[in-house]
Amino acid sequence: MFKNSLTKNARAVITGAGSGIGKALALELARRGSLVVCTDINLDAAEQTASEVRRLGGEAWAVACDVSKLEQVQALADKADELLPEPVNLVINNAGVGVGGKAIGETSIEDWEWTVNINLWGVVYGCHVFAPRLRLQDQAGIINVASTASFSAAPLMGPYNATKAAALAISETLAAELSGTGVSVTALCPTLVKTNISANGRIQGESNDLFNRLMDRIGMSADKVARMALDGLDKKQLYVMPQVDARMIWRIKRLLPNSYAAITGLINRRMTSKFV
Ligand SMILES: NC(=O)c1ccc[n+]([C@@H]2O[C@H](COP(=O)([O-])OP(=O)(O)OC[C@H]3O[C@@H](n4cnc5c(N)ncnc54)[C@H](O)[C@@H]3O)[C@@H](O)[C@H]2O)c1
Repeated sequence: MFKNSLTKNARAVITGAGSGIGKALALELARRGSLVVCTDINLDAAEQTASEVRRLGGEAWAVACDVSKLEQVQALADKADELLPEPVNLVINNAGVGVGGKAIGETSIEDWEWTVNINLWGVVYGCHVFAPRLRLQDQAGIINVASTASFSAAPLMGPYNATKAAALAISETLAAELSGTGVSVTALCPTLVKTNISANGRIQGESNDLFNRLMDRIGMSADKVARMALDGLDKKQLYVMPQVDARMIWRIKRLLPNSYAAITGLINRRMTSKFV
């Protein structure tokens, strides 16, 4: 842990805290002595996380919130202020869904809208509602859970890539707007993490098989990703890329901007024939 650590004894709100990375963040924050408002569209799952936090000796509450609905995010902010002894000083916009397996033009508009409503509007609402409140604190933080998909532009993931690119752009913009204040912003950009994203999402056919195999073989644990995200915020890092492949993709795209799409397409075709 770091000097003046924000993630120690924080008053945190986490969206999508009922599973995967959100749940791991809640448990890690509890280990750091933080109070955690665990929210999820699935209240039972949020309750489960909150009770695991309490079992660790921490304090947590479960609140239902669908991040794709502005009025529910506004109600969440009011509820968090009611539950916590002092105002929220850490917000983690984590809730998100996975969509993939079809090319642009074949992906249904319903799947585009579902992804945009949760992955993009969820981050917009979370930042819109909480950023003005966080600015009132001496020290505060926002973590937006983006993805390596924010910049990797892998084929057959159009809606996911687009919404995660937007989550990164929002984080970068917020970081600039909040520079000179006490609010730090971190965009978490992992590659594969072992969670329930495939079971909960709409990744189709062969892409789902490939995703699950790769997640089993090389996925990082959600606990490790959670620790790295919180440490990154404490170190005031805007970008947290927990895995080496994320950092490699980031660099290759910058080194070879015009060849990048052809390389990505080729790798995707090779991997699909190797793993499926
Ligand atoms: N697992 C990965 O490989 C990976 C990689 C990069 C980024 N991410 C991102 O991490 C975040 C968390 O995903 P995860 O992998 O832990 O998946 P997960 O499916 O295990 O957890 C996601 C949680 O979000 C909740 N949720 C879904 N829609 C919601 C809504 N409208 N409102 C509130 N909650 C909602 C679900 O109920 C679930 O509890 C997502 O933003 C995802 O895009 C995941």
